[in-house]
Amino acid sequence: MEDKLIINGGKHLNGTIKVDGAKNAFLPILAASVLCEGEIELDNYVAISDLTNMREILETLNIFSSVDGEKLYIDAKDVKNVRITHELSQKVRASIFILGALLGRFRSAIIAYPGGCKIGSRPIDIHIKGFKALGAKIIERHGYIYCHGENMKAAEVVLDFPSVGATESLMMCATMLEGETVLKNTAKEPEIVDLQNFLNSMGAKVRGAGTGCIVIEGVKNLHGCDYKVMTDRIVAGTYLLAVATCGGDVLVDGANWRHNESLLSFLKQTACKLDVFDDKIRLKADKRLSSIEKIETYPYPLFPTDLQAQMMVLQAVSKGTSIITETVFESRFGQVMELAKMGANIVVKDRTAVIKGVEKLYGADVYATDLRAGACLVMAGMKAEGYTTVNNIKYIDRGYKSIEEKYNLLGADIKRI
Ligand code: UD1
Repeated sequence: MEDKLIINGGKHLNGTIKVDGAKNAFLPILAASVLCEGEIELDNYVAISDLTNMREILETLNIFSSVDGEKLYIDAKDVKNVRITHELSQKVRASIFILGALLGRFRSAIIAYPGGCKIGSRPIDIHIKGFKALGAKIIERHGYIYCHGENMKAAEVVLDFPSVGATESLMMCATMLEGETVLKNTAKEPEIVDLQNFLNSMGAKVRGAGTGCIVIEGVKNLHGCDYKVMTDRIVAGTYLLAVATCGGDVLVDGANWRHNESLLSFLKQTACKLDVFDDKIRLKADKRLSSIEKIETYPYPLFPTDLQAQMMVLQAVSKGTSIITETVFESRFGQVMELAKMGANIVVKDRTAVIKGVEKLYGADVYATDLRAGACLVMAGMKAEGYTTVNNIKYIDRGYKSIEEKYNLLGADIKRI
């Protein structure tokens, strides 16, 4: 039987909470280890299931890693396989990144279509189109993608949409192509800057990440390195929204304000108190906050889709009405039905949700439908009167390490059974 979280709600949150390394930075960086012919030491590692699954996939390529506290040691000297099976690629969508890295280094890769959270159709056409623009021959057959890169060369590639994953795949793919590749209309997320910094610390020549245009001068090989991965801006944002929702006074240690400016500007409209330091943010909420009239998700630097569900819980208990529009993924309101069971007043039409704030939520038996929807239900449970059971917590464990222990240190009452 799968674990559940039982939350005894109604507690304020107080104290300090630490933000771990970023899942969405670690995933492409782990994939990029395929490019390296040496040993890599990564700092800020966190044992969440998306990362342990990704390490398992790398093992099938003969890339082994070990953990010591927050350090991850990777030995990528001797990659032996360029095929990722259906069973493995279903475990984590980010397995698609390995395709770009394998193709870049070995000019050959075979991968089954990737899995991941069910938050929309999540095609990979932009990745594939990009590989083709770099000269790769791609054949899609029986659920597998066969890539032949013997004739690949540096080129200019314009992405149809600033996809985070496609930007990262193409950066990895171009790192070892002779000549200068120019990627245009690329995603600007901080995780892309982190990937650039990691690639450069292995000897790559990548510049422009974060600007929307990335230039990659191909190098012949990459060496081992030590690298500290950025902290998780989505986890930091989740904690801030949890305190705003439940009330209390919490210092979020490891929260980088530069990575969460859109969230902070929204929070400033709610009458909570924010103290922003270099790598810490303190949020104090001592009364019911005001709703934010209009929130739309967009690619970075605008408000992230990965905080939409958590923001919805805050709006569900705030004073007033809020309209949230999800523009990035087409079906990312999986939390709405569950929040309704807890007494939230939310009406959805297409990609827009109208949320009328209620004074109270009530404990209920609810089901996580994806990672962030799961994180939002934990917040709702902590806010609600009575007991909430959150089911399907395998989704939450993909991106939050021991979420119950972290919140319990702040005064929450959550048990994993
Ligand atoms: C990454 C994040 C995920 C986040 C998302 C958007 C990782 C591991 N995951 O996912 O947490 O929610 O960015 O910030 O970093 N699209 C296509 N064709 C493609 C690729 C994407 O149509 O080839 C569409 C997607 O269906 C989606 C939109 O583009 O509607 C954004 O996707 P993308 O930026 O690629 O997200 P991911 O890299 O999958």
